[in-house]
Amino acid sequence: MPQPHLRTVVVLAAGEGKRMKSTLPKVLHPLLGRTLLGHVLSAAAPLGADRTVVVVGHGADQVRAHLSEVAPDATPVLQAEQLGTGHAVRIALEAVPDGAGTVVVINGDVPLLRPETVGALVTAHEEAAAAATVLAAEVPDPTGLGRIVRDADGRLEQIVEERDADTTQRAIREINAGIYAFDAVRLREALGKLSTDNDQGEEYLTDVFGLLRSAGEPVAVHVAVDHVETLGCNDRVELATLRRLLRDRINEAWMRTGVSLLDPVTTWIDVTVALDRDAVVDQNTQLRGATVVGAGALIGPDVTLIDTIVGPAASVIRSHAVGAEVGAGATVGPYAYLRPAAQLAEKAKVGTFVEVKNSQIGAGAKVPHLTYVGDATIGEQTNIGAASVFVNYDGVNKHRTVIGSHARTGADNMFVAPVEVGDGAYTAAGSVIVDDVPAGAMGVARARQRNIEGWVVMRRAGTAAAEAAQRARDAKDGQPAGDAKGASGTTGAASHSEAIHGATETVGGASGAGDTATE
Ligand code: UD1
Ligand code: CA
Repeated sequence: MPQPHLRTVVVLAAGEGKRMKSTLPKVLHPLLGRTLLGHVLSAAAPLGADRTVVVVGHGADQVRAHLSEVAPDATPVLQAEQLGTGHAVRIALEAVPDGAGTVVVINGDVPLLRPETVGALVTAHEEAAAAATVLAAEVPDPTGLGRIVRDADGRLEQIVEERDADTTQRAIREINAGIYAFDAVRLREALGKLSTDNDQGEEYLTDVFGLLRSAGEPVAVHVAVDHVETLGCNDRVELATLRRLLRDRINEAWMRTGVSLLDPVTTWIDVTVALDRDAVVDQNTQLRGATVVGAGALIGPDVTLIDTIVGPAASVIRSHAVGAEVGAGATVGPYAYLRPAAQLAEKAKVGTFVEVKNSQIGAGAKVPHLTYVGDATIGEQTNIGAASVFVNYDGVNKHRTVIGSHARTGADNMFVAPVEVGDGAYTAAGSVIVDDVPAGAMGVARARQRNIEGWVVMRRAGTAAAEAAQRARDAKDGQPAGDAKGASGTTGAASHSEAIHGATETVGGASGAGDTATE
């Protein structure tokens, strides 16, 4: 569509938002993936404005910093004192070269506004060649809002703030949404004539309409189809209401594209998230930031994914992931924690009470139970035994562990990085692996078990354990139970000392992970 005019967008974001009772400026409060200000800027983005000016004041530094992240092309303009919405626009236009065109003004706190609605307002304004057009809405409860006062012919006469309105005007349920399109030249002229003759002693942008109308200029009202879009945010109760409304809008849109949400009321999806067809999202699930969910993936219940990419047909159950990648058909959880740069290849498995950070887990590899994997590479089809720790931190630096493909590591291993376990290698249960294990070798690094016969009866005489031991011994010897004093003290003492000397001995040869020999 050809653009008849230069377009300028002005977003008003200098107010404190007192009723939020927050150290964070109101417009920076987050709402499902963007700040309030971010939502407004993205609703205006399709206008293709030649310039965007954001009026900042309260928390100016924070708002500027946020703008440089989300809208680096926008120009922040400081309104040091908040002397009213008219004053704010006047200051904004001082930063913009004189000239013809359309100025679109949007309050910074209307996050549910849709791009289509702003577009329709601007098109109506430009087609009618109006001097000013206000977006209005019929609302169930107009409390606190500016009212649209029309004349006998239904034309806009003026916009009256509630605190300046008489009883008849207060009964009007058609309100000013705080979103406008103006002819740049006539707006500048009118702004120069604003008074502060009102209850708040402020320069009201809304007075521009009465001034233009009195001067015989064409002013217009564009009525929003859905009043919900025009809801503002003044306190945290309203913020929570907006969040629910936006959640419903987002969820409905995803369901219509072929995503199943089993419990939409407990499913919170940021506007920045993408889901593919036949993905199923179970209850109590939050999908945030740059998260992407592939076709047919199963997410939830009780899952939070932040900036995480989940491949097709993968499943993530009762888990938390940040900055992770889960490959196609991979499975995660229940109760897994994937931290930044945890990368699971196709059909990999990260099971229960497993934490993974900055590690690649190969295709079909499994880390099923109770394990920490940090700074590691695990090859395809490898199995990591339960209760293992990738010991990556020496107190100063982090080091990597590399495990080859088709390896089988024993339960309760410590991999003290930097260390490597080769392709097809095994390690014995309970090993502390400090040296590389060559491909195909069995790595064993643990003390061999010794049993000190009769120790309990001798050293813990009179305890229930000793009595049980005595009964077991008597039963084995075919003698009646009950004589715990019959044990030989000297034999036990000898065995004990022998065991301590033997404690540094390690298992050699081919016995290993499955080694159960006792004598
Ligand atoms: C304004 C409108 C009201 C409308 C309502 C819709 C005026 C006079 N009134 O009222 O008709 O129904 O919005 O929500 O415009 N701001 C500045 N600088 C200032 C004052 C405000 O940047 O000096 C910003 C605020 O940060 C906010 C926006 O302008 O984003 C609106 O200001 P606010 O004080 O909330 O206006 P309302 O009283 O709600
Ligand atoms: Ca407001």
